Amino acid sequence: MARITLENVRKEYGDVVAVRGIDLEVSDGSFVVVVGPSGCGKSTTLRLVAGLESVTDGDVRKDGESLVGVEPKDRDVAMVFQNYALYPHMTARRNMTFGAGSATAFDDEEIERRVTDAAELLDIEDLLDRKPEALSGGERQRVALGRAIIRDPDVFLMDEPLSNLDAKLRIRMRAELAKLHEELRTTTVYVTHDQTEAMTLGDEVVVMNDGRVQQVDSPQRLYDYPANRFVAEFIGDPAMNTLDVTVEAGADGARAVHPGFRLPLPDGDGLDAAAGSGAVLGVRPEDLSLADADSGADAFEATVTVTEPLGDSLLLECRVGGDRLKTQASPRSDVGAGDTVALTPDPERLHLFDPDSGEAVYHSAGATTAPDRDGRATRSPATTPEER
Ligand SMILES: Nc1ncnc2c1ncn2[C@@H]1O[C@H](COP(=O)(O)OP(=O)(O)OP(=O)(O)O)[C@@H](O)[C@H]1O
Ligand SMILES: [Mg+2]
Repeated sequence: MARITLENVRKEYGDVVAVRGIDLEVSDGSFVVVVGPSGCGKSTTLRLVAGLESVTDGDVRKDGESLVGVEPKDRDVAMVFQNYALYPHMTARRNMTFGAGSATAFDDEEIERRVTDAAELLDIEDLLDRKPEALSGGERQRVALGRAIIRDPDVFLMDEPLSNLDAKLRIRMRAELAKLHEELRTTTVYVTHDQTEAMTLGDEVVVMNDGRVQQVDSPQRLYDYPANRFVAEFIGDPAMNTLDVTVEAGADGARAVHPGFRLPLPDGDGLDAAAGSGAVLGVRPEDLSLADADSGADAFEATVTVTEPLGDSLLLECRVGGDRLKTQASPRSDVGAGDTVALTPDPERLHLFDPDSGEAVYHSAGATTAPDRDGRATRSPATTPEER
């Protein structure tokens, strides 16, 4: 077990800055997922913890001790890769044990015992004498996990370990990884570009973009209180709608004014500061409901341009005041392209972002810096960008 700390970690490859000063705390026994688009620096961050790359600046610590200069083999971390990295000429058992003797203090007998335990945990007992070519993708990935598990490392580092699997197997392995972590409680840093995987697996999710940490939070809080526009649009599928509006303060409260609507904004932190200026209104498709045409003043009209049946819902793409907007209707709604519909946003689910910085300035569900699970203000490192 171990706690990992990244302190202002920066990594350059020549002219390319892959990681631009990251602070991160991975507490002992936690499962932290790092998510972000391709090229944002996820693998680099993981490789810096593993010691496969060295930091250009900053520090990586394990239980407070700096790992800078410590060889990968002496860090007591085990890495699991996307492409399994199994030796094709060795059996599953040999793949799991190969190198374990020199990497750990275990004797042969102990290693054998650990293979038996890991094989049972991973349900691969009957496959141990097969070579990788005779295993399915999911089975290979289990062997790769088994290799990490028998070493009983302080930390698991996993780089998109499920991305080579088909959708169904990925979902099953995802659940098994969660179960595995329940059982072993080994500190784990897990990298993925798949936001669904991040949301379902992580105790805590780190959203990265362009070499920087954008927000660190629980999955639900990322969804409900995105720190900025990037997080708001990256987390959630279909993505949050964002529309340019002007915030107007009036006798009856503030409104988001758009060519297609004048939406009342419930009182909340940040609203006064936003009044009188331009802002970006964010509202998720599932927070816009189809209303009866005469259902009240807060509904606004939109023209349906495209309908997309998703099975469990009907996704509608609409035009409103020259902008595009997505909304989710019930799956068998009788709505088609060209129809005019009335939309009512959930007043508790509105967000405003600064049009220049992209920072969240208001969430109608509560204060902008809503307290997190420990009662601290939400961390939003992107509010203090220092281009060093
Ligand atoms: N060895 C290298 N030499 C030069 N540039 C590199 C090297 N490794 C990574 N980079 C660059 O650093 C940036 C971050 O790469 P990284 O592999 O960490 O991204 P990632 O978030 O893991 O992306 P993906 O989701 O595609 O795996 C990219 O711009 C990449 O091109
Ligand atoms: Mg990567």
